[in-house]
Amino acid sequence: MSDILVHTEDGVATLSFNRLERKNSITSAMYAAMADAVEQAAADATVRVLVIQGHETVFSAGNDIGDFLNQPPATADAPVFRFLRGIASFPKPVIAAVSGPAVGIGTTLLFHCDLVYAGDNAAFSMPFVNLGLCPEAASSLLVPQMFGYHRAAEALLLGEPFMAEAALEAGLVNRVLPPTEANGYAQAQARKLAAKPLSALIETKRLMKQGQATRVLEQMAEEGASFGRMLREPAAREAFTAFMEKRKPDFSKV
Ligand code: COA
Repeated sequence: MSDILVHTEDGVATLSFNRLERKNSITSAMYAAMADAVEQAAADATVRVLVIQGHETVFSAGNDIGDFLNQPPATADAPVFRFLRGIASFPKPVIAAVSGPAVGIGTTLLFHCDLVYAGDNAAFSMPFVNLGLCPEAASSLLVPQMFGYHRAAEALLLGEPFMAEAALEAGLVNRVLPPTEANGYAQAQARKLAAKPLSALIETKRLMKQGQATRVLEQMAEEGASFGRMLREPAAREAFTAFMEKRKPDFSKV
């Protein structure tokens, strides 16, 4: 079965991570499938809402580290960047249901969702620095805006996980639920939205986002250029190799 499942029903397109044995980490091929699904959902007039969900035990472990080592995204057209631009500019409502670990892009993509429902086991983290990298998905702009600078620095410089209740308090999450209920609740909210007039949803979202829509894409492009360069540098290569070798990274020489 595919690592990304796409299912459309009752005006709701649902994109599900389906790579549990690798903790729903995301390969380049998966990003391509996600980018295609997002583009199709944006263009398809029968789709009114997009839902992104994982499993009740894990949302996503972020980028597949082996895949990133072997085929790092080289250009702005790389599938990961195509997917990020797709959700950042998605005109209709996007809902995420997050339970268990949400690492890296598993957390940063949530800043582009309109509603986020979390299982009480959700653990969010943005460990880019620990991997010798910098933030992506415009998170270097959006996290400080939402969290305030000092809490953003804690999340992005220390890269330590924070749990569902902290995410609720910071405004990243709308509601915390038992993990077995998060996906179902997101689907129910999606159906509520899908019953509303689409033109009003689109215009309301556009008006809320327009203040910095261009700025977000610019920040994403700047981060993407740095991220792509840093992936090839010694710090990231040491971090990724250490992960593959199941040892602690040694940054003393980088
Ligand atoms: N890329 C590639 N493989 C990954 C992965 C990733 N991002 N995350 C997990 N896996 C693999 C593990 O290597 C392991 O493989 P193995 O069975 O061959 O040993 C398998 O998935 C299960 O992961 P494991 O670490 O044993 O699960 P866990 O429940 O103890 O921990 C996480 C789950 C998500 C907390 C942990 O896997 C993790 O921190 N992963 C790395 C996250 C990361 O740094 N992502 C990059 C962000 S840019």
